[in-house]
Amino acid sequence: MNALTSPLLEIRELTTAFAGEHGTLPVVDGVNLRLAPGECVGIVGESGCGKSAVAMSAVRLLPRPSGRILAGQALFRGQDLLALPSRQLNSIRGAHIGVIFQEALQALNPVQRIGQQIAEPLMLHLGMSEEEALQRARELLEAVRIPAPALRAREYPHSLSGGMRQRVMIAIALACRPDLIIADEPTTALDTTVQQQVLALLREQRRESGAATLLISHHLGVIAQNCDVVYVMYAGRVVECAPAGELFAHPRHAYTRALLAATIRPDMPHHSLLPGIPGNVPAPHEYATGCRFCQRMGRPAPLGPQRPPCEEVAPEHFVELCPACCDMEMTD
Ligand SMILES: Nc1ncnc2c1ncn2[C@@H]1O[C@H](COP(=O)(O)OP(=O)(O)OP(=O)(O)O)[C@@H](O)[C@H]1O
Ligand SMILES: [Mg+2]
Repeated sequence: MNALTSPLLEIRELTTAFAGEHGTLPVVDGVNLRLAPGECVGIVGESGCGKSAVAMSAVRLLPRPSGRILAGQALFRGQDLLALPSRQLNSIRGAHIGVIFQEALQALNPVQRIGQQIAEPLMLHLGMSEEEALQRARELLEAVRIPAPALRAREYPHSLSGGMRQRVMIAIALACRPDLIIADEPTTALDTTVQQQVLALLREQRRESGAATLLISHHLGVIAQNCDVVYVMYAGRVVECAPAGELFAHPRHAYTRALLAATIRPDMPHHSLLPGIPGNVPAPHEYATGCRFCQRMGRPAPLGPQRPPCEEVAPEHFVELCPACCDMEMTD
């Protein structure tokens, strides 16, 4: 994002914790993220790195009672969503921010007809009559390419396929023409062909509505195909972020490089083995205070218990600069 553009969403120094058997432990540790109007920003990282915790903190949809925001701000058009009274937050969330979750079946109401579920936010936030809202719901189902929308609108979620349910979620998220869509692994539960269709639909809808998107995925291919800017998360921290082209051309952090090396590319020879990343993402009670990727690699962190500083190594390209994980020579 151009430094002069004012962000639509700005997450500042976010720290989020979950209560568990080891106490209340931060799983998001001082995360900063900016998203400009109309932009698609991706968060990528292995499972358990805190991607969902960041997104769900920003809109205060963390699982209760275990999830807690300990510090930080989530400014939506300059207004801190983390400090707003619930009523104000609900009206912003419904009307201006659409959320698409990984598991449509869990997010949809099993005992409410699909048309009604799409119509509800239209009545609540845009003041439409029930008749108008149901008509709009059928149009939205058509826009997300659900065949026979008038019939489908009268059905319940369980009678639809996984791909169709995900389309219904997109229709609900887009219903009020939000300025921001948060899509948390919107296609992970779907098979590859349906995944591509749903992502294409999301792109098309974004183009039409101009909505900004925060797209979360552990799949770098999905991120590369869709995002203008990429944030790489490891063990609760952003270790690198940059415009997508810059990040893929000049990855600077060893974790980003390892993720890239572990991704299938079309130019790879047949039967080539993908190098995996050794070890596992540590659990939050094991997190080191210093460089967590050195911890993963089983090497001493050069900066000891000190968190590596986050520095801008190229325009809009920020890296957590650990001397063992980054190519320090290029920083001059
Ligand atoms: N409800 C919960 N209670 C306790 N700990 C949780 C809960 N949800 C997530 N966590 C922990 O918080 C950390 C971050 O989880 P999060 O779901 O944000 O990761 P993620 O990057 O979204 O992973 P995935 O790719 O699997 O969705 C993990 O260590 C996870 O075990
Ligand atoms: Mg997640």
